[in-house]
Amino acid sequence: MNFFNYKNGELFAEDVPVRDIASKIGTPVYIYSYNTLIRHFMAYTKAFNDIPHIICFALKANSNAAIINLLGKYGCGADVVSGGELFRALSAGISPQKIVYAGVGKTEEEIKYALKSKILMFNVESDNELLEIDRIAGKMKIKAPIALRINPDIDPQTHPYISTGLKKHKFGIPIEKALDSYRLANNLKNILIVGVHKHIGSQITDVAPYVDALKRILILIDSLITQGISIKYLDIGGGLGITYKEETPPLPSHLAKRILPLLSRHNLTLVLEPGRSIVGNAGILLTKVLYLKKAENKEFIIVDAGMNDLIRPSIYGAYHEIQPVVKANNDIITADIVGPICESGDFLAKDRRISQVKQGEYLAVMSAGAYGYAMSSNYNSRPRSAEVLVKDGDYTIIRQREKYKDLIKGEVVPDFI
Ligand code: LLP
Repeated sequence: MNFFNYKNGELFAEDVPVRDIASKIGTPVYIYSYNTLIRHFMAYTKAFNDIPHIICFALKANSNAAIINLLGKYGCGADVVSGGELFRALSAGISPQKIVYAGVGKTEEEIKYALKSKILMFNVESDNELLEIDRIAGKMKIKAPIALRINPDIDPQTHPYISTGLKKHKFGIPIEKALDSYRLANNLKNILIVGVHKHIGSQITDVAPYVDALKRILILIDSLITQGISIKYLDIGGGLGITYKEETPPLPSHLAKRILPLLSRHNLTLVLEPGRSIVGNAGILLTKVLYLKKAENKEFIIVDAGMNDLIRPSIYGAYHEIQPVVKANNDIITADIVGPICESGDFLAKDRRISQVKQGEYLAVMSAGAYGYAMSSNYNSRPRSAEVLVKDGDYTIIRQREKYKDLIKGEVVPDFI
């Protein structure tokens, strides 16, 4: 559910016509709905209300300070994967005790920063990382709280690039090796085992892979208990999918219904790391039609948002609904909707059926709130777009559009040139 709806044939974000935003702020522009964000976050809170839990928003999906602050105000924690994300979470006032830190390549600097910040736990992805955290914590004379990220070898049936829980992936510790790694952790002086972590992939549209993975993890937790290793936090990662086209992904309540009964024997605090399911359908990308162009057997709608603004269609072949901001009863055409970037891979949609649009009209690229701006770049020296947050009938810029001078910030022309 989201708050982007048509009223009298015109697209609104909550109570604001998105055309108003486009004409005042310009395009391309990301527009987020405050009430959608809260609704999605509350759906998790309500679903898992019956057991102790922490919802840690995966900052990688959207790391705008306003969004992290907003979710933080409602009690949300953060799943971070870099020093930069940790900085963002702390700057937004997220309690360190609600921050979990994953990622296969944490540097010494990042580990020190997280230890100093007293985060809830590191989600450790290898034995060597464990040894490194132990060494650094020893130097700092503190104990590092850790969970091991376990790779349960479960296929989440999603796009190969965003599937992470199979043996062949770089993530986590293979489940058959997990006991050995926990024993290693248990013998390290500066390590405090507090949890188990898993995350099997993203845009998962079925509960079954969660259930299968969880069953495997619970067997592991039981074995740990018999070895005298107690676990407080069970972090089941993120990954719930959203509707881009016709998918019918489970809601947080569906997930809770299936997994909570499995947890009844254990006294665990559940950690979840949703990203896309909170912010994905809470954001759209607004773009303007620059030109219409006909090639042989092909029509192109050339818009002012490119793969630098939204790269998902180019790299995953991802589908995003694209709708005219003002509906008209025009003929339906089939066109490629492409950006201004000098690459054939620069498209938002291929062979898309869409009503005939005119130069200067606005199009809304739907479900763009997750991994949209977060994955944007300056490719082709295009300033990054603005971001706007709408709440009821008001809106405000939450990130200024970049200017040309931002493009060369930090670049140095040395004297010898
Ligand atoms: N936790 C961990 C350890 C993760 O690696 C991820 C996402 C999440 C949580 C959040 O997953 P979500 O709830 O958003 O599915 N760029 C891709 C998605 C990459 C996901 C990476 N990891 C895309 O645009 O589809």
